[in-house]
Amino acid sequence: MEPDSLMGPRDPAACGEPVPGSAPRLGPRGASGSGPPSDVISRIGGTPLLRLSRVGRDLPRGVELWAKAEHFNPGGSVKDRAALAMVRSALADGRLPPGKTLLDASSGNTGIAYALLGALWGFPVEIILPKNASMERQRRILAYGARIRFSSPLEGTDGAQRLAKELAKDHPDRYFYPDQYNNPCNVMAHYRTTGPEIWRDSAGLVTHFVAGVGTGGTITGVGRYLKERRPEIRVTGVVPDSPLHGIEGLKHLETSLRPGILDDRYIDDWSRVSTDEAQRMTLRLAREEGLFVGTSSGAAVHAALKLGAGLEMGVLVTLLPDGGDRYLGEQYWNDGDR
Ligand SMILES: Cc1ncc(COP(=O)(O)O)c(C=O)c1O
Repeated sequence: MEPDSLMGPRDPAACGEPVPGSAPRLGPRGASGSGPPSDVISRIGGTPLLRLSRVGRDLPRGVELWAKAEHFNPGGSVKDRAALAMVRSALADGRLPPGKTLLDASSGNTGIAYALLGALWGFPVEIILPKNASMERQRRILAYGARIRFSSPLEGTDGAQRLAKELAKDHPDRYFYPDQYNNPCNVMAHYRTTGPEIWRDSAGLVTHFVAGVGTGGTITGVGRYLKERRPEIRVTGVVPDSPLHGIEGLKHLETSLRPGILDDRYIDDWSRVSTDEAQRMTLRLAREEGLFVGTSSGAAVHAALKLGAGLEMGVLVTLLPDGGDRYLGEQYWNDGDR
């Protein structure tokens, strides 16, 4: 596969690879770089790959389904990885000096991850959230000591992105704006950690990777890594089947701002999932597998099972982006008859 121009520099420090002697330091807000190291950051990544043999029990005999459980990250979602890479890179090259505030748009998970890192490193964090983001996400961001600014609930994450961009442009001295939708370190985080973990934990047997698309960081980074290991591995992107959907974290690409880091070259197929299908599978994951995860996890597993049903042989790997705790306000948890 050709080297990727979107990926940016190859220098490990450029996307925040741990550099010897540069362990995260605790410090007062605005004074990044002092104090004892944090063990919490070293727990980002290294999440378990779990066999889903219950929801997958009707798959053809030669087909297995595995899921990477990202709610085991300290901030509770896959976005800890991307936020860590973006922050490390900015700390390393001076874009986030003491006194600057990290500002970005998020549907919640990246905001929580930034807020966690801001608490540990001591830089202030301001998150632009659509006004309708769940209370659980808002409170978790506030718990880490970050600030929230709301954008229009009618404009979703696109509106939050526009507002973040505007503020960053108007106040360049106040803000560092990582722009997760266009930051190559978001992809690099998955290319360097999630992809290799999947390859290692599946003993190189993975044949298909199925993942939801929000910023596109996960699918582009993992897809690229796996295809470099074995080009025949097929990658499926999961998206909502309509613009008005309830699958938090996923983007209806035809009607949204296209993320700059999403790279189609690593995606072979697309699977469109309805909110109802995603919610039903999310409930099944809790009730059959004991996995209390978010709605986009249900969407990914639904798509993976649909794909697996049409295969004779295969080791399918999907990814569960976050836990169900941040969706407790949703009504579908007690839908006993679903
Ligand atoms: C719940 C959830 N699922 C899926 C995704 C998609 O991940 P990515 O942004 O890497 O495409 C996100 C991203 O924010 C998310 O929050």
